[in-house]
Amino acid sequence: MTDDRLPDEFLRRVRHLEPAYLAHDDPIRASGFSGGPQRWRAEREPILAAVDGDGDLLDVGCANGYLLECLVAWAAERGITLVPQGLDIGPGLVESAQRRLPRFAGNIHLGNAWEWAPPRRYRYVYMLYDCVPESHLTRMTARLLDEFVEPKGRVILGAYGSRSDDIPPFDLAGFLTAAGFEVAGTAFGGDPVVTAFAWVEARTGRANREPGADKRQATTANG
Ligand SMILES: C[S@@+](CC[C@H](N)C(=O)[O-])C[C@H]1O[C@@H](n2cnc3c(N)ncnc32)[C@H](O)[C@@H]1O
Repeated sequence: MTDDRLPDEFLRRVRHLEPAYLAHDDPIRASGFSGGPQRWRAEREPILAAVDGDGDLLDVGCANGYLLECLVAWAAERGITLVPQGLDIGPGLVESAQRRLPRFAGNIHLGNAWEWAPPRRYRYVYMLYDCVPESHLTRMTARLLDEFVEPKGRVILGAYGSRSDDIPPFDLAGFLTAAGFEVAGTAFGGDPVVTAFAWVEARTGRANREPGADKRQATTANG
């Protein structure tokens, strides 16, 4: 747990997402994406490059649960069974995700990732990097590794740029490496690239966990 709160202005912006998302019937738009089904899959499926076997996948900031539903289906096509787990700060979005995934309604939680205490650990924990301000991302990632993920699991961070505004995704691998995490793999989506994913293994996670540990141990391998 952390002893400080996320900035009010940040929380205000995040809370504005819920009415905007819930205004749409289309599950893709209600997930905050306006590029249509083809791009949705091309730009989100690379998350599965970090998934190398069956397990529970927690989507931190799961919105209406559509990404979870899709990841479960896309993984099944690869012979991998994922159990959907979710967390969102928006109560209406949590209800929407619970309705979308009724068998797993008990897996979908209401809470702010920064303060939330997970009731269990998950093999895969996926989080968009902007669920917390950049100034808080190192500590959030460390918490995901220390408190959310199973001993052999992976924390997967995602970043979405914008094709229409020609904005590339945030450099997650560069950020993580500079922060002292050992990046186990990266993946990208879109043409041109507009989504980026980077993951850290629970086992090796933090190259500089011990004071004075050598940051040069950090390596990146494409997934
Ligand atoms: C763009 S949507 C992402 C939906 C889906 N995970 C995806 O990647 O397509 C971002 C979601 O994250 C939620 N969110 C943002 N910051 C959060 C936080 N600190 N804790 C919990 N949920 C958060 C928002 O309410 C919103 O539903």
